[in-house]
Amino acid sequence: MANYPEVMDKLVSLCKRRGFVFQSSEIYGGTGSVWDYGPLGVELKRNLQDRWWRAMVRQRDDIEGLDSAILMHPRVWEASGHVSGFVDPLVDCRNCKKRFRADDPKIKGTPGTPDGQCPACGMKGTLSAPRQFNLMFKTFMGPVEDSAATIYLRPETAQGTYVNFLNVQQSTRQRVPFGIAQIGKAFRNEITPGNFIFRTREFEQMEMQFFVEPGTDEKWFEYWKEERMKWHRGLGLAPDRLQFHEHGPTELAHYARAAFDVQFDFGGSLGFQEIEGIHNRGDFDLSQHQQFSGKKLEYFDHGGNKRYIPFVVETAVGPNRTLLALLVNGYREESVEGETEGRTVLGLSPALAPIKAGVFPLVKKDGMPEIAHKIADDLRSAFPVFYDDSGAIGRRYRRQDEIGTPFCITVDGESAAANDVTVRDRDSLKQERIGIDSLRDYIGTRISG
Ligand code: GAP
Repeated sequence: MANYPEVMDKLVSLCKRRGFVFQSSEIYGGTGSVWDYGPLGVELKRNLQDRWWRAMVRQRDDIEGLDSAILMHPRVWEASGHVSGFVDPLVDCRNCKKRFRADDPKIKGTPGTPDGQCPACGMKGTLSAPRQFNLMFKTFMGPVEDSAATIYLRPETAQGTYVNFLNVQQSTRQRVPFGIAQIGKAFRNEITPGNFIFRTREFEQMEMQFFVEPGTDEKWFEYWKEERMKWHRGLGLAPDRLQFHEHGPTELAHYARAAFDVQFDFGGSLGFQEIEGIHNRGDFDLSQHQQFSGKKLEYFDHGGNKRYIPFVVETAVGPNRTLLALLVNGYREESVEGETEGRTVLGLSPALAPIKAGVFPLVKKDGMPEIAHKIADDLRSAFPVFYDDSGAIGRRYRRQDEIGTPFCITVDGESAAANDVTVRDRDSLKQERIGIDSLRDYIGTRISG
């Protein structure tokens, strides 16, 4: 039984209402499992991506950044094994025309036989035998739409890194062990997408490929497992909602010698699910590209005077899925002492929250709006703030609580004379008087980290 409640439906509604996430092409009835990020969602996602980039690239001298193209030479995907191996078994219902993964636990009986029962329409004997379905999106390059012009939208960023391994290594003079990190879009024609932004057909990845000497891969695999788990805890995800899941032999991807997922407990029926994969890919990818391209992808170790194809330890996390984990983790409804109306709070870590402070004049007179505007303008050059003078002050607090704003600054009748304001903390609800000149430092230190 799940310990944490189901909050997905409430979050979907909050995300639309407050501008985190919208359905793609909504006015046309939507595009299947594709989502757009609104003003608050894009800030939150960017904060998450910047945090990953800082931890994985800027703060290390052994990892370099890369931004490779989505469209790649079609042979890349033959070499990587995706043309033949990136497939899911799929069954169709001849009656209701719905499609399912053949291993969908809702299917009763055996698909392709008279006892196979469609989980959607309930008919027996209408499910096809499983057939392999490739998850890569195909398109054509150039004006001719034939098989010679077929290319794919990348299903992972990793291959763009492997084909650039020597470009990056030689241009930066990095020595093994070192890594290459990138953030970018990936596309998968998922058979059963769903659960809001959890599994979508267009998404992003933050992937790092760490190249190591064969024989040291297991040590590095352990190192990256621990580092990545620490990173997820540092986002503010509750420790008891995080766990590792080791892939058994039947779960391992075609390239992996070993794999652990970092899983997060999404609550309700979804429960623990992967948000990041850590893979020991051995020399599979570089060897395949060496063979298919005919170009040597060996590393020359000057110290040891030897050549080898490095092994790769990969860390692969989805910002969209992690963003969903942050929303689920932070969402709470609570009553407030002395108030009849409860409040909805997104308990996002201040460093990740899209808006850092709400700035309010208590009333729209006596010079308060002017002071509040001046404060908002000054703070805006350092971090995102939101000026709000409409409605009762309690309402304004609630609107900020619901989007995770950690601080609310109120200019009141004493502010002009005392040159100070109240600052309310989202979680403790405590209010402190802070000098206007100290606000930037006061909030700045609390949103760093
Ligand atoms: N290069 C290795 C790789 O792609 P993966 O486990 O398939 O590994 C890594 O994907 C991460 O990308 C996942 O942990 C998840 O966060 C994200 N991801 C994968 N498929 C996704 C999808 N359809 N929608 C949203 N995120 C997805």
